[in-house]
Amino acid sequence: MRETFLPFSKPSIQEWEISEVANVLRSGWITTGPKNAEFEKAFCAYTGAKHAIPLTSETTVMEVLFRALGLKPGDEVITPSMTWVSLPNVVSLYGAKPVFVDCDRDTLMITAEAIEAAITPRTKAIVPVHFAGGVLELDKIRAVAAKHNVVLIEDAAHALGAEFKGERIGKHGHVMFSFHPIKNITTGEGGMFATDDAALADRVRSLKFHGLGVDAYDRQTMGRAPQAQVVEPGFKFNMPDMQAVLGITQLTRVDRMNAERGHLAALYRERLANIPELTPLAQPAYEYKDSYHLMVVRLDIDKTGITRDDFMSELKKRNIGTGLHFRCVHGQKYYREACPVPAGALPNTEWNSERIFSLPFFPGMSDADVDDVIDTCKEILAK
Ligand SMILES: Cc1ncc(COP(=O)(O)O)c(C=O)c1O
Repeated sequence: MRETFLPFSKPSIQEWEISEVANVLRSGWITTGPKNAEFEKAFCAYTGAKHAIPLTSETTVMEVLFRALGLKPGDEVITPSMTWVSLPNVVSLYGAKPVFVDCDRDTLMITAEAIEAAITPRTKAIVPVHFAGGVLELDKIRAVAAKHNVVLIEDAAHALGAEFKGERIGKHGHVMFSFHPIKNITTGEGGMFATDDAALADRVRSLKFHGLGVDAYDRQTMGRAPQAQVVEPGFKFNMPDMQAVLGITQLTRVDRMNAERGHLAALYRERLANIPELTPLAQPAYEYKDSYHLMVVRLDIDKTGITRDDFMSELKKRNIGTGLHFRCVHGQKYYREACPVPAGALPNTEWNSERIFSLPFFPGMSDADVDDVIDTCKEILAK
């Protein structure tokens, strides 16, 4: 058994990055300021996005964006149920309805066909998720959104650095990113809205900061524009510079960190090929570049007779941490009552929801760590 606990995730932060944060703390300007402006520019340069606006999390991006899009009671938003609770929660807080769509059994992503089947005259937006490192089949999904004239918003919490057919995620459309500590880059907590729509970008920029008709930081005045006044009531979700600076440093390393993740993923896949009880996700057949965000596997609970939750606790007893991405949203208490889904309507989501968990996976993890995880899984399965 391992002597030290191997966490399921750990942020990669180097000493020089800590110094950069300390420099901001010493600078006299720690809230939204020049480092936000620099982070936006670097993010646009990296993704190819026309506009990028940092906020305090991806969840707050959703809150602001749905205000900007005028989401109201009676509206519907199409989402996978195999996702984090943020999107369904925010949609519900606006009095609108999340419409859950089943995912592919092996990529855990929703398809253009499933999305199209869920569109109604009340559909306000489609919010599919690039899952675990895999990438949505964007050309088909964009075509469905355009055909029905519905806004498409990509949830790219897992997809920084990923590409679809040579196009980096975030370059086009409306795309939301997360910088939570397990993500491919982190700012502690944080999120980004990337878009090629200048008017929507302006609206989000204003709404994230009280609905003042200006940004939290004005580049000309090096402060707030003195004439700032509320043009509509807004939120207070601007990212402080002491976090934005970490976004800048992390972006310079994202390709290297993703390459490290790719190496670990290949190693895991090679080792898992000898464990029929644990199946990794499938990689989509179309052309894309993975961001290797999570190492999700499915436990064969029928053959092994052990539940996923028990398997995770057995790993923990042996000093191996795991994550769960995700427990299906429609199966959770509030959603079972507020928007019940007919039994059997989301079979792939429910099948995976009982079987998935995420193995330790982060830059800085060693090949020997992967071997420890694999050996420990084998030991539990042998019992
Ligand atoms: C798919 C997905 N969407 C949205 C979020 C929310 O991101 P944040 O924690 O930055 O609000 C997460 C975060 O875990 C996520 O995994």
